[in-house]
Amino acid sequence: MEKKRIARKDFLKTSCSLIGFGVLAGLAESCSSYKVFKTKVSDGTISIPLSEFALEEVRIVRAPGVGYDILVRKMGPTSFTALLLRCTHQDWDLQAGKTQIKCTNHGSVFDWMGNVKTGPAATRLRSLPTRIENEKLLLTYA
Ligand code: FES
Repeated sequence: MEKKRIARKDFLKTSCSLIGFGVLAGLAESCSSYKVFKTKVSDGTISIPLSEFALEEVRIVRAPGVGYDILVRKMGPTSFTALLLRCTHQDWDLQAGKTQIKCTNHGSVFDWMGNVKTGPAATRLRSLPTRIENEKLLLTYA
């Protein structure tokens, strides 16, 4: 299963590159251009400096051990949402577009709050609890 996910990521990376040349325009919504913040999980907590959100409200957070990217969005000065980009249908990686989150495996679509808009997924995305301490956004992943 892990091998399939890596191959799919490679496919999307290649596909998104081709969109830049206008070859696969239909996939454009699937390819996010959000910056990736790489970090780690420490004692069940993922830490992100608040300065990461000074100029942009959205980050893709990638931490070894989580297995899926996390879409983090700043909603207000001290308010954030964090969604695990793992499809609730069959555990596929999700792609965050500008207005929605899509699964390229069977076509499920989620809104930016993680609610299902289109199945076959029937369950909303997992939200990670967030809190702020010492100029850092902390996500709880346990
Ligand atoms: S795995 Fe995402 S829709 Fe099936």
